[in-house]
Amino acid sequence: MAKQLSGAGLRGQVAGKTALSTVGKSGSGLTYRGYDVKDLAEKCQFEEVAYLILKGHLPNQAELDDYKTKLRGMRGLPDALKNVLERIPKNAHPMDVLRTGCSMLGNLETETSFDQQQDVTDRMLACFPSIICYWYRFSHDGVRIDVETDDDSIGGHFLHMLHGEKPRELHEQVMHVSLILYAEHEFNASTFTARVCASTLSDMHSCVTGAIGSLRGPLHGGANEAAMEMIEGFTSADDAEEKMMGMLERKEKIMGFGHAIYSECDPRNEIIKKWSEKLAADVGDEVLYPVSVRCEEVMWREKKLFCNADFFHASAYNFMGIPTPLFTPIFVMSRLTGWAAHVMEQRADNRIIRPSAEYTGEELRPVPTISERK
Ligand code: COA
Repeated sequence: MAKQLSGAGLRGQVAGKTALSTVGKSGSGLTYRGYDVKDLAEKCQFEEVAYLILKGHLPNQAELDDYKTKLRGMRGLPDALKNVLERIPKNAHPMDVLRTGCSMLGNLETETSFDQQQDVTDRMLACFPSIICYWYRFSHDGVRIDVETDDDSIGGHFLHMLHGEKPRELHEQVMHVSLILYAEHEFNASTFTARVCASTLSDMHSCVTGAIGSLRGPLHGGANEAAMEMIEGFTSADDAEEKMMGMLERKEKIMGFGHAIYSECDPRNEIIKKWSEKLAADVGDEVLYPVSVRCEEVMWREKKLFCNADFFHASAYNFMGIPTPLFTPIFVMSRLTGWAAHVMEQRADNRIIRPSAEYTGEELRPVPTISERK
């Protein structure tokens, strides 16, 4: 007999097994393959964490060097993909651009065997920043940028292409932390999308394209962008408090707060908040950071709701000069590791994911003839 539905949104239901991460169970609240995310964010570069998630262990120095060299060599874009990107209008959403870019890449470099899954994933990790920046700079600045930079890291590569100059060390470091924090998060909506797609034995590009679509919404990855749009409308901490009280009275959702699994705090928030504070001091900000802190205080005081990973990411990215519409695509550049690792895990022990539904429609009835219908 089918299990009784315990709550909307499949909340609290175990929908499968994973050895990749735990959420709200041990350590500071988030672990990747047994390591606390706090520890990883302090001691590792993003490429080490991507390697860990995808291959199961932290790389030694030689493995890391080889992995970075491999990724650096995969940053270029085929002409056919560049042509497609050049046709996408300036006012398109960058998440839609990335969805199309991923799908087009799947047409040009199709995964024809699961033996290729690691290489196909590495290729996406290396070239997603190129896809975003090539389109962004072409549509906004009218330039065809060189996407084959020699930057050491994925985050550095992204910032270099976006700003047209090598990033400062501080910014490259913040990108490492940010990409580590976003890399993996168990059975969230976009990862579950990827796993459902994988369970039909579909290809990696289809799984990732679907996941990008799920991540785009403001209840998921789109929250960092929505949080930015909100906080930049506040002129001071007092103004933020007054306006937020109004939003709460009107029962509006405040983006960047709350979480489906964590109940008291999101461990990623404390980490990115510290970096946002550092960046605020670096740029001499006296508005955005104090506004963000006041929002956090008001939400806790009024609703006992805490900032999730997205909230202080908004100010941190803003301080690094990243345009707001590119916030969620950065999330993709990172979460791609989690998605791909889940696809590989699903493939290794697969059964098609096909749950049942509780029927709430009409009782069985005969089909009336056309003249009997109203
Ligand atoms: N702003 C205002 N109220 C919020 C809220 C928010 N960000 N998040 C939750 N609440 C309220 C809900 O309205 C609900 O109130 P109610 O019981 O009076 O209806 C209560 O808190 C419980 O939250 P619920 O909606 O059941 O949580 P959920 O598990 O269904 O949803 C999120 C989790 C993340 C989707 C939800 O908190 C949200 O929409 N947050 C904003 C979007 C966001 O930041 N997403 C990124 C997640 S990492």
